[in-house]
Amino acid sequence: MGKKRFGVAVAVAFLALIHVSVSVPFILIHGISAECSDHTNSNFPRLLTNLSGSPGFCLEVGNGKSDSWLMPLTKQAEIVCEKVKQMEVLRQGYNIVARSQGNLVARGLIEFCDDAPPVYNYISLAGPHAGISSVPWCGSAIWCEKAAKLIEKDIYTEYVQDHLAPSGYIKIPSAITKYLEHSKYLPKLNNEIPSQRNATYKNRFSSLHNLVLVMFENDTVIVPRDSSWFGFYPDGGANQPLLSVQQTKLYTEDWIGLKTLDVAGKVKFVSISGGHLQMATRDIVKYVVPYLQNQQTTAKGRNHCCY
Ligand SMILES: *[C@@H]1O[C@H](CO)[C@@H](O)[C@H](O)[C@H]1NC(C)=O
Ligand SMILES: *[C@@H]1O[C@H](CO)[C@@H](O)[C@H](O)[C@H]1NC(C)=O
Ligand SMILES: *[C@@H]1O[C@H](CO)[C@@H](O)[C@H](O)[C@H]1NC(C)=O
Repeated sequence: MGKKRFGVAVAVAFLALIHVSVSVPFILIHGISAECSDHTNSNFPRLLTNLSGSPGFCLEVGNGKSDSWLMPLTKQAEIVCEKVKQMEVLRQGYNIVARSQGNLVARGLIEFCDDAPPVYNYISLAGPHAGISSVPWCGSAIWCEKAAKLIEKDIYTEYVQDHLAPSGYIKIPSAITKYLEHSKYLPKLNNEIPSQRNATYKNRFSSLHNLVLVMFENDTVIVPRDSSWFGFYPDGGANQPLLSVQQTKLYTEDWIGLKTLDVAGKVKFVSISGGHLQMATRDIVKYVVPYLQNQQTTAKGRNHCCY
């Protein structure tokens, strides 16, 4: 009898020990013209869960597809921030996978969200981190440059900024003054304006354990595609040679902590052949899955470990 009880107690203690080590959950943030219920964004978290063994959820912003176009990114990031704080399962910290425009929401979540649980690993797939120099639906054809000229006239107006999500990260190199003055999202997210730099954003971003920046070599949606690594055109014009990430002031002056992370060996710059977000399973296994497999060991487990 006594022996049996002891055996049960040992078994319970053993189970408790196994239990303290749990997979860190992840959230998925989708891109523009997409929503959590569409084919891609409902399957992708399932695939990632299957491959990593970690629970994951697509987090919806507003009503999905139309809000991905029409709701300003400041608002989108606020919504995701509130959702994350309400999710019990994320309370101990979590990882983020984001697609395309969703990366700007993800970074807003990391940098702007007060009293939020910690983000450990952040995997960015085709994120327009340094902006896009032309409208997102047309690519790099000549007529696009003409269209961009027309759009340039209105893109930094209050109305467009408040009603068209991509206006928050359209950065027209020949209109930098207007961009810095009137763009309501990216200049803040990238701590671009000297008088308005906020060390809290930098502290939060540089607290990541791993940052994986995936660029797609044949991406024609993110222009320039190097923006997925924070590379961009110099101020002045899109006809000048691109600056690599390490040549940008965002990096050299470490506006958001990207250099800090890189020097600490925490940034993986990944380049994948293929078009926008076209990722083979073997690349997902190589570049995404390992960063979703971190374990959480609670302090309780460590302190009370007995046998
Ligand atoms: C995930 O695994 C389940 C169970 O094995 C399977 O039914 C499902 O099709 C898989 N989903 C994806 C997206 O791979
Ligand atoms: C910087 O951002 C934090 C977090 O949002 C905020 O609490 C603080 O007031 C900001 N500081 C300045 C100087 O704007
Ligand atoms: C990338 O684009 C080039 C030029 O259009 C093409 O030749 C190549 O096949 C493309 N590669 C992939 C992987 O899509």
